[in-house]
Amino acid sequence: MSRSPQSSKKLLSQITNLIHHPYQAPDGFGAVQLAIHKASTVIFPNVDSMQQRNWRLGNNYSYGLHGTPTTFTLQERIATLEGGFHCLLAPSGLNAIGLVNLTFLNQGDEVLIPQNAYGPNWDMVKQLLGRFGVTLRSYDPLKPHQLESLIQPNTKLLWLEAAGSVTMEFPDLSALIKAARKHNIVTALDNTWGAGVAFNAFDLPDGQSVDVTMQALTKYPSGGGDVLMGSIVTRDEALHKRIKTTQQLMGINVAANDAELVLRSLPTLTVRYAAQDLSAQQLATWLTSRPEIAQVLHPALPSSQGYAAWLATCVTGKAAGLFSIIFKPEYTTEQVNAFCDQLSLFKLGYSWGGPMSLVMPYLLPSLRSVEQGGVPAHLVNGGLVRFSIGFEDVSDLRADLLQALGVLA
Ligand SMILES: Cc1ncc(COP(=O)(O)O)c(C=O)c1O
Repeated sequence: MSRSPQSSKKLLSQITNLIHHPYQAPDGFGAVQLAIHKASTVIFPNVDSMQQRNWRLGNNYSYGLHGTPTTFTLQERIATLEGGFHCLLAPSGLNAIGLVNLTFLNQGDEVLIPQNAYGPNWDMVKQLLGRFGVTLRSYDPLKPHQLESLIQPNTKLLWLEAAGSVTMEFPDLSALIKAARKHNIVTALDNTWGAGVAFNAFDLPDGQSVDVTMQALTKYPSGGGDVLMGSIVTRDEALHKRIKTTQQLMGINVAANDAELVLRSLPTLTVRYAAQDLSAQQLATWLTSRPEIAQVLHPALPSSQGYAAWLATCVTGKAAGLFSIIFKPEYTTEQVNAFCDQLSLFKLGYSWGGPMSLVMPYLLPSLRSVEQGGVPAHLVNGGLVRFSIGFEDVSDLRADLLQALGVLA
């Protein structure tokens, strides 16, 4: 039985009517974009219904933290995008990484992280989970045949990333997953680069499938450079439930307005990805001919490490609009920094996937500590600069790069 509606408008004071107004908008409204449902409190029609809803199932409405039509819709769309069946949201990509780590790592367990992984994952395990007895080691993602020799009885989680952060090596994901599978290790892919567009992580060459993907929706799915969000996708319901329990116990979800921004951007994801990919490939190829540059690191360039794996995995030839260059060692750090400062269309800023082209210089030794394998032999020891390509006209971007290279003369 429903509780009686506020039918008697006359009996309520003007001020109460501002809160409990009986007007209901008519059904039948249709629009391109979805309504935004914002809630901390969710209203139940009666006690029975309230008691029947189990917030732990995550498929009904009990409290804003546990989901609204807006967050449920975004979850479904991200799961479909990545080729999975279940999705959870988190307030940043890094937080999504944290949820995976917290779910699958217990005291005494070890996690293997690729040498070229997004650095804050390494720091999180080392500095935070280390306090709770979790250990970590790095592995060379380009040597899958070595992975099994690293696996110990307490190795419980294998992180993967394709392409690797900043240095852009593309690993043979299937070979790495196969090795982990033999030892019942959960595999988790940071799928931010592929964004569910470049390849399907649940349907990889050789019949392999990753267990869990996380993505910084902050990058391509948001596409605006103005939202922070993360997602975690699985096919396996049992794994999903385990991560969901961690998410619920930690009180983690995302705000409706942020979810709506990502929902609004999703329909254009594939065209945005393709446009930025095209411009990036053109600029990367052009930069290979520049005398100042020793290496251009882009997975779709045959000279890049893991090119064969990229070809086999990204069968439609797609890549993110992201690449790095390494200047010849004769150029000092100050000269490389001056090059970055001289750029005008490329703005100095972290992140990628937004409308504006970005640049960021990195010191290779600080990216790869000794524990992370040190600076690998395939990289020239020079100043590294990463570019995220936006939507500017590619000829304007090329002209900007050209004039900035002038400071090195
Ligand atoms: C590969 C990768 N994964 C995860 C993240 C974390 O995303 P967020 O900035 O949303 O925490 C980033 C951010 O730069 C990233 O580059």
